[in-house]
Parts: sequence; C-alpha cells; structure tokens
Amino acid sequence: MSIYVAEKFQNLKEITGSILTINEKMSSFHKKLVDAFLSQVRYERKFLVLKDKTLYEHFIMAKNDFDQYYNGLVSLTDSHQMKNLLENIRQSHDHYEEVFSKEIELLRDGQSYPEDLYMQEKEKAINETMDGLKEIKTYTENRTYEKIKQLGEAGADARRVALIMTVSYLIFGIAVSIFITRSITRPLKIMRKKTSEVAAGNYSGNLSLTSPPEIGKLAKDFNFMCNKLKEIDKLKSDFLSFMSHELRTPLTSIKEGSTLLLEGVGGEVTEKQKRLLTIIREETDRLIGLVNSLLDLSKMEAGMMTYNYAYEDISHLINKAVIALEPISESKDIRLEREIENDLQRVKIDSDRILQVLRNLLGNAVKFTPKGGHIKISARAIDKAVEVSVSDTGIGIPKENLHTIFNKFQQASNKSPDIVKGTGLGLAIVKHIINAHGGKIWVESEPGHGSTFTFVLSA
Ligand SMILES: Nc1ncnc2c1ncn2[C@@H]1O[C@H](COP(=O)(O)OP(=O)(O)O)[C@@H](O)[C@H]1O
Ligand SMILES: [Mg+2]
Repeated sequence: MSIYVAEKFQNLKEITGSILTINEKMSSFHKKLVDAFLSQVRYERKFLVLKDKTLYEHFIMAKNDFDQYYNGLVSLTDSHQMKNLLENIRQSHDHYEEVFSKEIELLRDGQSYPEDLYMQEKEKAINETMDGLKEIKTYTENRTYEKIKQLGEAGADARRVALIMTVSYLIFGIAVSIFITRSITRPLKIMRKKTSEVAAGNYSGNLSLTSPPEIGKLAKDFNFMCNKLKEIDKLKSDFLSFMSHELRTPLTSIKEGSTLLLEGVGGEVTEKQKRLLTIIREETDRLIGLVNSLLDLSKMEAGMMTYNYAYEDISHLINKAVIALEPISESKDIRLEREIENDLQRVKIDSDRILQVLRNLLGNAVKFTPKGGHIKISARAIDKAVEVSVSDTGIGIPKENLHTIFNKFQQASNKSPDIVKGTGLGLAIVKHIINAHGGKIWVESEPGHGSTFTFVLSA
C-alpha cells in the first residue's frame, strides 16, 4: 500500500516538474521569437529609409534568430493544434520576407514601384504573424493550466484509491484475524469441556478435532491419555474387587473364630483374653464392612447390582435406621429428632438399599457432629414424590469439597483429629443407590454450622 502511494506521488511530482520546465522553455522561446521578429521589422523599416547595407545585415541576423527560436518551439511541440499555429506563423512570416525581398530587388534595379502597395502587403503579413504569436501564447498558457488541472484530478484519484485499498485491507485483516482466533478458541473450548468431563470421571476419549493441525495432534494425544486413564481406572477397580473378594472369606473365618473363642468353645477364657478377643472381633467387623462397601461399589459401577423393588412406606425405614443409631448418638449426647409427615405415600424402592442410604447419612451426621449437637431427619410429600433430609449441627463441609464428596474415596478437608478416619465410600454408594432409583440427592452446608443432605424418591 505504501509503495503504491509513494510511487503514485513520485509520478505526480515528475509530471509537475516536466510541465514546469517545458512551460518555462516555451515561454522563453516565444518571447525571444517575438523580439527577433520585432527587430526584423525595425531594421526593415530603417533600411527602407536609409538604404544602409549594415541595416540589411542586421535584418538577416534577426531573421536567423527568428528561425532558430522558431525551430526551438517546433521541437517542443507535442500537439496538432500547436503545429497548425506554428505553420500559420511560418507562412505569414515567409510571405513578409518574400514581399521584402521583392522590394529589395526592385530597389537594386533602381525601378520605381508602388511603395504603398508593398507597405500594405507587408503590414498585413506582420499583423498576421503577430496575431499568430499571440495565439501561441494563449494556447500554451491554456495547455499548461489544463495539464495542472488534470494533475490535480489524478492526485485526488490516487488518494481515493489509496483510501479504498486501506479500508479494504483493514476489513480483510480484521476478518482474517477473527477467523484465525475463532478457529483456535472453538476447539480449545471443546477441549476445556472435555477436560472437565474427564475430571468428573468420564474417561471416554472421543474428541474429534482436526484443525488447526497442532490442536488436532493435541486432541489425538488427549484421546490417547483418556483411553489410558480408562484402562488404569478399570485395572484399579478390578484389583479392588478381586482383593475384596479374596479378603472376605478369611475375614469372616477370623470373626467366627474369635466369636467362638469368646463363647468359650476353645476352653476357659480369662478377662484379659476376652478384652483382646473383643478388639479382634470389632476390628474384623470394620474390615468386613470396608470389604463389603468396596464390593458393593464395584458391583454398582459395573451395573451388576440387583435391586428388589417394592412399594414401601419409607417412614418404617427411617424409624429402623434411627433406632439402630440411638445408642451411639446417646453416648455422644446428640439429640436425634424425627419429623415425618403423616400419610406419606408409598414409594417404589429396594428397602435394604434405602436403609443402607439412611444408615450412611445418619452415620455421617453422628460422626461429624460434636457432643451436644442436634440431628433432625425429616420426610415430607412433594408433588408425587417423597423428600427425605438429614440435617445436623456438625462441622459442615467446605465449599470447595461440596461437589466432590459424592465421589469415591473423597473426603472433606476439615476433619478434626478425634474423628475416626473413614474410607470415603459411603456417599459414593449412597449416590449410586439413589441414582438407580431414579432419584436425586444433594447437599447444602455451612462450614462450622452444619450440613443438610436431601434426597428425593418419586412414587
Ligand atoms: N454430615 C456431614 N457433616 C460433615 N461432613 C460430612 C458429612 N457427611 C459427609 N461428610 C464429608 O464427606 C466425606 C465423605 O463421606 P463418606 O463418603 O460417608 O465417607 P466417610 O464417612 O468414610 O469419610 C466425609 O469424609 C466428610 O468429610
Ligand atoms: Mg460415611
């Protein structure tokens, strides 16, 4: 663009310069031509009066000057009209000289001749020549003016073209940059979404992005990574369920063995032995619980868990769960309150599994509520469904953990050291069970003030 404009203006400058020099030369030649002609006329007149030979020589010199300047003007001529004008001058000038030559011849012969007639004839030729010269002057002036006008127009044209080109380049540039930016941000957005999915546990590597090539390659690597993650995740689940399975039988034997020993089947048991055997049985119970949770979860994740659905009254299940938990809550001096609406409609559930849900939620509430706290479990009917919620006045859950605690092995960061360390499997199982029932579960919590877990089961 800049080169174009610079070239255009250089052109204009050259043309302007050439117009100026040619114009200058022409007007100078013209002036000299007029002077030479006037000198010729002057010497001719003087010669006729004085008949002096030197005057005639001066006349001839002026004539030579005239011819020289005339030829100079002819060499600068570039138009037909100018040529015609010069031709006219040539003719009338030749005629003037012709008449004068004849007059000289007659004078030399000493003949008498009609001087007045000759005078008139010359006068006419002189006037014609002078008129022609004047015309040439006006003509060159007009021509110059016209050329300058054309130059001005050409300049304006160049300016317009430059402006249009600049604007078009600008629009084109913006369009191209928008296109390029979009072609990068769009696949990046898709990748960001996919990354969140992977973070949420969906490892299917099905990103299909081909352009731009760098991102296409990145997407390919990303898919590869997803598939690897999927494989590793499966390996881990398989390993866990295998281990759990293998552990369950020996653990059950240990539990049975310690129970039998406690009952005195193996002989007299001292008080100290009883205490140790009780610890063994309790710890074995805990391990069996863990193994069962792991097995349950891997079954649920594989979609192999079977559910026995029936229409049940959920309030019975709530009572059962609360009663089972009362001894622990009493020992921690926690008030356990029930608020169940009358005539709750029956819902289609697997009562063993929902009982497991209630036990987990209430168990967590008791575990994470300090001494002297308060737990409330309520059930109410909402539009063709039953909503159950468990609220406590416990330690609460920090905001940054709220969306992960339903994932397996995930625990909140605000544990105090006196809380027995869990496994982080309970809520994952709860979520699986509620999902299998087509229900919904969520949590609201205020750290330091308590949490409320709520689930909805439709009728
Ligand atoms: N009622 C609650 N009050 C405070 N934190 C809770 C409550 N229920 C669950 N949590 C948090 O969620 C985590 C996951 O719970 P869960 O899956 O039952 O695992 P676990 O009880 O084995 O730790 C807990 O470790 C705890 O940090
Ligand atoms: Mg728990």
